[in-house]
Amino acid sequence: MTDAAEPATGPRLAGRRIVITGGASGIGRATAALFAREGARVALLDRDAAALAAAGAETGAGAHRADIADPASVEAAFAAAAAAMGGIDGVVNAAGILVTGPVEQVDADAFRRVVEVNLTGTYVVARAALPYLRAGAASVPSGATLVNIASGVGLLPTGPNGAAYAASKGGVVTLTKALAMEFAPAIRVNSVCPGAVETPMTDGAPRHPEVYALRRWAVPSEIAAGILFLTGPESSFMTGIALPIDGGRTFH
Ligand SMILES: NC(=O)c1ccc[n+]([C@@H]2O[C@H](COP(=O)([O-])OP(=O)(O)OC[C@H]3O[C@@H](n4cnc5c(N)ncnc54)[C@H](O)[C@@H]3O)[C@@H](O)[C@H]2O)c1
Repeated sequence: MTDAAEPATGPRLAGRRIVITGGASGIGRATAALFAREGARVALLDRDAAALAAAGAETGAGAHRADIADPASVEAAFAAAAAAMGGIDGVVNAAGILVTGPVEQVDADAFRRVVEVNLTGTYVVARAALPYLRAGAASVPSGATLVNIASGVGLLPTGPNGAAYAASKGGVVTLTKALAMEFAPAIRVNSVCPGAVETPMTDGAPRHPEVYALRRWAVPSEIAAGILFLTGPESSFMTGIALPIDGGRTFH
C-alpha cells in the first residue's frame, strides 16, 4: 500500500488546486498565503471586490467574486476557478459573518441572515464543489479535501449575546460530519473551531484574553496552520472531525 501521508518533507500541497472562500480577508487570506508557500495553486472566492483584488495581488491567487448565499454566483465562480487551475481538489470554506447581541435585539431576520451565510452558504459551497472534488480526488493520494471554518462557540457557547452565530456554527460542525459520511472515501471533510482571532471581523470586539488558558487571542496564521494540516497529506486518516484551535477555551 502506498503511504498516503508521504511526502513528509517538501511543500505539502505541491500540485494541489484549492478554492478558498472568504479569501479576501482575515483567516482565509492568511490561509491563501500559506497554501501558496506550500506549493498549491489557489483561487479566492469572496463578495468584497476591492479586498479580493488586493488579496489576489498579494498572494498570487486567482480572484472570483461570488456571494456564498447565492448558489448561481458560487457555481459560476467554481466553474471559472476550475477552468483557470485545470480542476479543483481542495476547498476551504472561510467566508462568514458575525452577528452579536442579546436575543431581544437580534430579530428573526438577523438570525436568518447569519444562518443563511454561515450554514446555508457552507452547504451551497460544498454542493458546488462536489463534482470538481470527485474528479480531482484521483490525483491526491490522501484524498480531496473540504475544510469548513466553524467556531469554538459551535462546540460550546461560552457566553451570552451570540445565540444566532453559535447556532449557525454548531450547524457547520454537524453539517461537516454529515458531509464526511456522504463524500467518503474520495473526499475528506473536516472543520476547524477557532477561538477569538485578530481579524477585521473582531475589530473593536471586547477583549477578555483571560478566559483562554493561553491568555491571548490567536493570529490568523495559527488557524491557517490547522487548516493546512487538515488539507495536506499528514491528516490522510482524518475525516468528520471538529478541530478546536482555541488557546484552551473549550477543553474545560
Ligand atoms: N475572527 C474570529 O475570532 C473567528 C473565530 C472563530 C471563527 N471565525 C470564522 O472564521 C471565518 C473567517 O473569519 P475572519 O475572522 O477571517 O473574518 P473576516 O471578516 O476578516 O473575513 C471574512 C471574509 O468573508 C467574506 N464574506 C462574508 N460573507 C460572504 C458571503 N456571503 N459571500 C462571500 N464572501 C463573504 C468577507 O468579505 C471577508 O472577506 C468566518 O467563518 C468566521 O465566522 C472567526
